[in-house]
Amino acid sequence: MSDETEKPDQEAIDAARREVKGRDGSTPPGQTETRAPEPSSSPPSDSSADYRIDVEFYDHVVPYRDRADVDFYVEMAKATRGPVLEIGCGTGRVLIPTARAGVEMVGLDLSEAMLSECRRKLASEPKDVQARVRLVRGDMRDFELKSEFALATTPFRPFQHLLTVEDQMACLRAIRRHLEPNGMLVLDIFNPSLDYLVGDKFLTETDEGPPFEMPDGRVVLRRHRLASRDRFAQVNDVELIYYVTHPDGREERRVHAFPMRYLFRYEAEHLLARCGFAIEELYADYDKNPFGSQSPGELIFVARKA
Ligand SMILES: C[S@@+](CC[C@H](N)C(=O)[O-])C[C@H]1O[C@@H](n2cnc3c(N)ncnc32)[C@H](O)[C@@H]1O
Repeated sequence: MSDETEKPDQEAIDAARREVKGRDGSTPPGQTETRAPEPSSSPPSDSSADYRIDVEFYDHVVPYRDRADVDFYVEMAKATRGPVLEIGCGTGRVLIPTARAGVEMVGLDLSEAMLSECRRKLASEPKDVQARVRLVRGDMRDFELKSEFALATTPFRPFQHLLTVEDQMACLRAIRRHLEPNGMLVLDIFNPSLDYLVGDKFLTETDEGPPFEMPDGRVVLRRHRLASRDRFAQVNDVELIYYVTHPDGREERRVHAFPMRYLFRYEAEHLLARCGFAIEELYADYDKNPFGSQSPGELIFVARKA
């Protein structure tokens, strides 16, 4: 066997490990740029999910505002009758409509900024809705709420902020400890398409829906790109980029950069089984169409505490 085949090609490995393309999003003259602070892994800081950049825009971003998952979660919550633990509840996009439907909710989130926004929105809800909600700042990898739940949910992919198998297992085990006997979990992650993993188009900035207007008159265009992809660790470095035009014409570019882990279908199945869950359903979308009915679709696991 030649030396060449025996020695790993370090250059090729490094290239595959971290595929970094040049930034096409450099700051044009006249714009200011804000980036979220570098991620830190020590809780209870905002860690890899630093949503401070996004928080004021979050509920206005068109694909979030129109995301077709709310009815699905409300129906799941009503079917189990609650109480429901929402992991990574954010601004309450799903939590508040579920509480309005009469279900007791605990929302756990690591980001104080997201929780404050959720509190602000809750304050204008009727008293009975407010009384059904408890918000807790905590890390999904390690929390103790001293309560048990009929259902735990993870709407819109908070689980993908966990970058290692250890963190994923710690989270699933913490959730399982908080479920009643026969309690249910909805694990909501995206189904990685081959195109997303290798396609060049994802490395350049792409618009996400039309621009939207904030109540104070600012107009915001949200774009996104992958700054790099680590196919060994299954982690993409995502950038959410906000182009903000102020009413006085001033322009600003804000970047929320964070790593995001993807999981494949069978990997997630093994992980759930390893952490004591029995999978009952796997949906491709929030209309409960089965996995495989569309491509790429989502990976929405409905699992029972085994
Ligand atoms: C994409 S948002 C989803 C928010 C909400 N579930 C929704 O559907 O709009 C992800 C949320 O997960 C939270 N998060 C990220 N890492 C976390 C962690 N380790 N523990 C708890 N929450 C976390 C973020 O702060 C953020 O609010």
